[in-house]
Amino acid sequence: MDNTHDVDWAALERTAVAAMKKAYVPYSKFPVGAAALTADGRIVSGCNVENASYGLTLCAECAMVGDLHMSGGGLLRAFYCVDGAGNVLMPCGRCRQLLYEFRAPDMELMTTQGIKTMDQVLPDAFGPEHLEDPR
Ligand code: THU
Repeated sequence: MDNTHDVDWAALERTAVAAMKKAYVPYSKFPVGAAALTADGRIVSGCNVENASYGLTLCAECAMVGDLHMSGGGLLRAFYCVDGAGNVLMPCGRCRQLLYEFRAPDMELMTTQGIKTMDQVLPDAFGPEHLEDPR
């Protein structure tokens, strides 16, 4: 795997803000944009998309993971999420699990407390390794 790409956090922020502007949020009026650098150097992004059955809302990270797969798959090297004001937003609990699934070993996240690792934002995570046959 190629993890040699330096992280351009400003580019991720710009991409997250652009994604946020496409959010469909008639119910919460809380637009979110997510962007990530992949381990092979692509940038993927997504916005939140709500619907009338409030609980079925798609977070920005869901769309971003779809973009990851549609654009070639792979793993996430760095992640940036913003709210409607362009401020850094922490990913919700469900989305931390989504990010964990596709983390590169050295994945970093921009947080309200600065850059953190995946392990710091989702400690003791449940993951694919726990699905191996326990017998
Ligand atoms: N939201 C996201 O898109 N990602 C998160 O990590 C936090 C929450 C969205 C879901 C909903 O459309 C709105 O923010 C308010 O919860």
